[in-house]
Amino acid sequence: MNAIKVHIKSFGCQMNKLDTNLVSASLTQAGFTLTESVKDANVVLINTCSVREHAEQRVISHLGHLKHIKQTMPDLIVGVIGCMAQRLGRELLEHQAVNIVCGPAQIPQISALIAEAIENNKKELAVTDNIRRPAPHQDTDALEKFESACAVTQKQSIPAQAFVRIMRGCNKFCTYCIVPYVRGPEVSRPPQAIIDQIKKLADAGTKQVTLLGQAVNSYQYNAGDKTYSLADILAKTAQIDGIEWIKFVTNYPSEKYFDEILKVMADSPKVCPYLHIPAQSGSDRILKAMNRQYTADWYLGLLERARQIVPQIAVAADFIVGFPGETDEDFNATVELVEKARYRNCFVFKYSPRPGTASEKKLEDTVPAETKQARNTRLLQVQEKISEDLNRDFLGKTVRVLVEGPSKKPHLNAAENDGNPQLAARTATDQIVVFNAQQNLTGRFAKVKITKTAPLTLFAQLTEPLE
Ligand code: SAH
Ligand code: SF4
Ligand code: F3S
Repeated sequence: MNAIKVHIKSFGCQMNKLDTNLVSASLTQAGFTLTESVKDANVVLINTCSVREHAEQRVISHLGHLKHIKQTMPDLIVGVIGCMAQRLGRELLEHQAVNIVCGPAQIPQISALIAEAIENNKKELAVTDNIRRPAPHQDTDALEKFESACAVTQKQSIPAQAFVRIMRGCNKFCTYCIVPYVRGPEVSRPPQAIIDQIKKLADAGTKQVTLLGQAVNSYQYNAGDKTYSLADILAKTAQIDGIEWIKFVTNYPSEKYFDEILKVMADSPKVCPYLHIPAQSGSDRILKAMNRQYTADWYLGLLERARQIVPQIAVAADFIVGFPGETDEDFNATVELVEKARYRNCFVFKYSPRPGTASEKKLEDTVPAETKQARNTRLLQVQEKISEDLNRDFLGKTVRVLVEGPSKKPHLNAAENDGNPQLAARTATDQIVVFNAQQNLTGRFAKVKITKTAPLTLFAQLTEPLE
């Protein structure tokens, strides 16, 4: 098995990136070597996403490229892992380029699948037959063991930061969404496993953890006489030495545990005042058709409560434009909601029918592509103005940031750039800050003074002392 080189690429969300990190760690533990270059690799793994058609198309075109490469490298093993692997299973295995198809619940088997594919030169399929059936049909124990064994040795994509899964799957069944069909039912991880993992990560130098779940505020674990919620996990994590910032995504707008979670945020300086809580639409009619269990007014009331409990909170959200039957009036209601909500940031997606979901089966994709595009652009414009206003308030202020690494784009204009390397960092409220520094501060906290603002970026100067 010596010196088999594996190249792995992620095409999905934070959950998907975490899986990529865990798989990489498990492969290293099993004696494989990781490589950044496809040309150098014996095995190429692609970790895929099914959330929109576009995400799948990118994977299909990448597989076309790999098929081409295989003409000159016939021994190259190609594995597709992740949500698209679970959705398409055998169909994907039939693709000429593909040797291995492995769903998100089977990643503990990945080393064995690769070894078998190489040794026996045959195609390998590992997906869950009936994904909605909970354990024992899904091997939760194997996933737990895998998670605990790999999480600590994983190479962090951003130094000093780590994602920590606190729950798997989703039970919400928003009508447009493929996630419950590819990630299975909601399962909350045991609190002790989560806390032990975060302690080890802290010992290894992690300063910020982001707790992950599809509806992370639904976390609930019954341990005999006590039921643990996200509020308990946040409070316990805040007690861990070395962990300085705690973030959590994504929240489903719901009453349950809401005040408790926000109170922990208010009381603990370690829990970042940042709440990602997608609304998806501002039209009650569309929200109903999406099976989102709230109205626009109720949602706005929830944000108001969050701001009462944590006045400095920054709120972010996702929206889908062009859901089946969305009229101009519905869309205007979404614009109105965005204007009232005063988000720090919004992610906007064009509706994409996903095979097998309720909206795909029952509703026709009626909104023309141009209308979806126009609504997408308009909503982003509305948000940009709000982000610009909110960011302007930061001018002249000194803020604490966690440095992520060299800034990829030269953000500052020549006059402001002092010639030192440019770094990209983030605030506790998830804004990107760019500044110059002589030292390499990657993975460290710093205090910076904001000198210029734009809708998506803050520009700053380093202040001394660093913290
Ligand atoms: N569990 C998270 C994230 C789900 S996927 C949550 O509930 O917020 C991330 C985002 O993709 C969703 O918030 C939604 O805005 C968008 N999305 C999901 N399915 C989609 C679809 N079929 N078409 C377009 N956007 C979609
Ligand atoms: Fe999908 Fe809704 Fe679950 Fe989020 S909460 S993953 S949008 S079904
Ligand atoms: Fe994430 Fe895409 Fe799967 S959003 S959970 S990788 S479908």
